[in-house]
Amino acid sequence: MRIGLIGYGRMGQAVERVATARGHAIAGVIRRDTPPDQRVQIARQSDALIDFSLADAVPANVALALQTRTPLVIGATGWDAQREAIAQQVRAAGGSALYAPNFSIAVQAFLQHAVSLAAQLLALEGWDVAIEEIHHRGKADAPSGTARALATRLQDALNHTRTAQYPAPADHRLPDAQFSIGVVRLGSEFGAHRLMLDGPYDWIEVAHRAKSRDGFAYGAVRAAEWLVGRTGFFAFAEVLSDILTPKEER
Ligand SMILES: NC(=O)c1ccc[n+]([C@@H]2O[C@H](COP(=O)([O-])OP(=O)(O)OC[C@H]3O[C@@H](n4cnc5c(N)ncnc54)[C@H](OP(=O)(O)O)[C@@H]3O)[C@@H](O)[C@H]2O)c1
Repeated sequence: MRIGLIGYGRMGQAVERVATARGHAIAGVIRRDTPPDQRVQIARQSDALIDFSLADAVPANVALALQTRTPLVIGATGWDAQREAIAQQVRAAGGSALYAPNFSIAVQAFLQHAVSLAAQLLALEGWDVAIEEIHHRGKADAPSGTARALATRLQDALNHTRTAQYPAPADHRLPDAQFSIGVVRLGSEFGAHRLMLDGPYDWIEVAHRAKSRDGFAYGAVRAAEWLVGRTGFFAFAEVLSDILTPKEER
C-alpha cells in the first residue's frame, strides 16, 4: 500500500517507521507549508492518508481526502467539538475516514476493562472515581483524547448520573455528581492513563502506560489497511473486532 503522511512530527515519523516495517511505501509527506497543489498530488498518489498533524488542520485534511477520494485515518486529537459535523460531511460525500483518539490496541483493551470495572463498583454505595493522564510537555491539548474517551464511556455506562469535571473547581468542593480528570505535563512521557476507584474499604486502579509512540503508529497503520475499500466514518472499535477476533471466528 502507498501511504501519504499528513504531519511529520513525532507521530508522523513513527508511522513512517512502522508502515515501512510492514512493507508499505510512503507516497509523500504533507507538512504545514506544503502548497495546496502538492497536497492534492500526494493524496492522489496515496492509497490512504494518515493524519497526525494538529486539530486545526483536520477540517482541511478531511476536505482534501474527500476531494481526492482517498481514505483518511485521523490520529490528530483535540477537534471533538467538530466530530459529528465531520462524520456527517464524510458520509454525505460517500467518503472514507476513520478516527481514534488513541490508536493503541492495548489502550482500547484498557478502556473496555476500566469502564466495565468502574461501572460495576460504582453501583455500590461509597465508591468514587477519578481519571488521571500524564503526557510530555509538547502535547498541545488537554485533557488527552484518551482521557476524554474514558470519561465519555464512563458517563454513558453510568447513565450520566456522574459527569466528568476538568479542571477541578478552584473555589468550591467537587459536587458528588461529578468526577475529576487530572492532567499532568511532564518531560517526555509518551502517555499514561489511570482510572482510580476509591471505596469504603478498598482502592483499585487500572493503568496503562505506553512504552513508545510505535504502538499508536501500529494501530493507525492497521486501521489504514482495514479502511481501504470501505466507505463511511468509522471508529477504531470496528477495526479492533476484526484484528482481535481470530479469522475462523469471524
Ligand atoms: N490518536 C493517537 O493514537 C495519537 C497518539 C499520539 C498523538 N496523537 C495526536 O497526534 C497529533 C500529532 O502529535 P505529535 O506528537 O506527532 O505532534 P508534533 O510532533 O507536534 O507533530 C505535529 C506535526 O504536524 C505538523 N502540522 C501542523 N499543521 C499542519 C498542517 N496544516 N498540515 C500538515 N502538517 C501540519 C506540524 O508541523 P510544524 O512542526 O510546522 O508545526 C508537526 O510537524 C496531536 O494531535 C496528538 O495529540 C494521537
